[in-house]
Amino acid sequence: MATIRLGDKAPDFTADSSVGMINLYDYLGDSWGILFSHPADFTPVCTTELGTAAKFKDDFDKRNVKMLALSVDGAASHNEWIKDINEVEHTKVNFPIIADEDKKVSDLYDMIHPKADNSLTVRSVFIIAPDKTVKLMITYPASTGRNFYELLRVIDSLQLTANHKVATPANWKNGEDVVVSPAISTEDAKQMFSKGVKEIKPYLRMTPDPTA
Ligand code: BEZ
Repeated sequence: MATIRLGDKAPDFTADSSVGMINLYDYLGDSWGILFSHPADFTPVCTTELGTAAKFKDDFDKRNVKMLALSVDGAASHNEWIKDINEVEHTKVNFPIIADEDKKVSDLYDMIHPKADNSLTVRSVFIIAPDKTVKLMITYPASTGRNFYELLRVIDSLQLTANHKVATPANWKNGEDVVVSPAISTEDAKQMFSKGVKEIKPYLRMTPDPTA
């Protein structure tokens, strides 16, 4: 297992899933990707998460993000569990769940934290850019279900800052003012951002979201 750091290439893999064999890079193509692990099938928090993720699929699609879940049970188990998720969450799981029985992918992505649990994965999230570099990693404990609004918010920030010389402040949401990149002088920023630049401190300059 190699440590993955931001900016590294996401390790490629081919694995069985709820929809058959999947190769990560082929599956993602030129899209962004979100890979998220679940401790085990037929567990309550995971059931709510996967149902919620399915309901967010349109939001991920709008951002050109392909979803891929993972749990350390087999494909047959996943497909039985999906029936439950669809029933209780009133949705249809509409993305693959990797069947990582041999823990190959969990090991590759360091999703098992033995002091938390020896055999089940923690709740890892990886966001992968179209060039296959890892742009975000978050690790939640098994006892905390993820906030999918937050994951969309981070994707909005990543996609905005990939194309504009800005960063996003605390609690930023799509459309709100953004921070001018520290690498840009205020003088240059005033040329670059036609909607105006407000200098609060020489190192803290705000500008309206250039895409809003
Ligand atoms: C759950 O998904 O509900 C869960 C899984 C493992 C440990 C705790 C909760």
